[in-house]
Amino acid sequence: MATPHNHAENGDIAKTVLMPGDPLRAKFIAETYLENPVQFNTVRNMFGYTGTYKGKKLSVMGSGMGMPSIGIYSYELYKFYNVENIIRIGSAGAYTDQLELFDLVLADSAWSESSFAKVQSGNDSDIQLPSDQLNGVIEEAGRALNKHITKARIHSSDVFYHEANVPGIEAFYGEHNCVCVEMESFALFQNAKVLGKHAACLLTISDSLVTQAATTAEERQNSFHSMMEVALEAAIQ
Ligand code: ADE
Repeated sequence: MATPHNHAENGDIAKTVLMPGDPLRAKFIAETYLENPVQFNTVRNMFGYTGTYKGKKLSVMGSGMGMPSIGIYSYELYKFYNVENIIRIGSAGAYTDQLELFDLVLADSAWSESSFAKVQSGNDSDIQLPSDQLNGVIEEAGRALNKHITKARIHSSDVFYHEANVPGIEAFYGEHNCVCVEMESFALFQNAKVLGKHAACLLTISDSLVTQAATTAEERQNSFHSMMEVALEAAIQ
């Protein structure tokens, strides 16, 4: 059954979906890693594909940037396409010099100033949690592939460009213990909770708000392989 944002039919989408923010990364993952990928969505160029990985059915779809966008796509996947697990794979900016470019971070919680959960279900909490079960599988995949993963609280921000007069790293890292910033997981975890589903978020550090170091587009393309391989391995467990 198609939705306003997704033209897939029932059965087109696997129980587990990997969700990068960028739909072109979804295309890249499908074409690089999946066997026999079939595209199920092109609406708004939010590409989605289903194929098999090591023989198991798996889907990958872009989420777009920000909580409103992942809020729509993840809700529809869970509610209308019977998806059980969504693993977000994305990039994040480091709030601490303990994290270096290309490090992997697994969210053990997402803190946010966003109104998403309050507006969505009246939930006042500023922290949303991923699935322990999915996180366990991702950690196990990381160990099997010999990839170091930092498990910590992340910041899901609504704002990429801030003026200088508002609280910055000192508030997000110092007060709220967030080690890095991205823009989607709080909404994804909230949707999973209200719908009784599973969600997790694995990130690659792409820039540092401490040192101002940043990766090039080409470096991101290559470095993201570690994250993708861990997520793919976890997704078929
Ligand atoms: N994703 C990657 N880097 C980011 C940053 N600096 N802020 C928000 N989201 C990001």
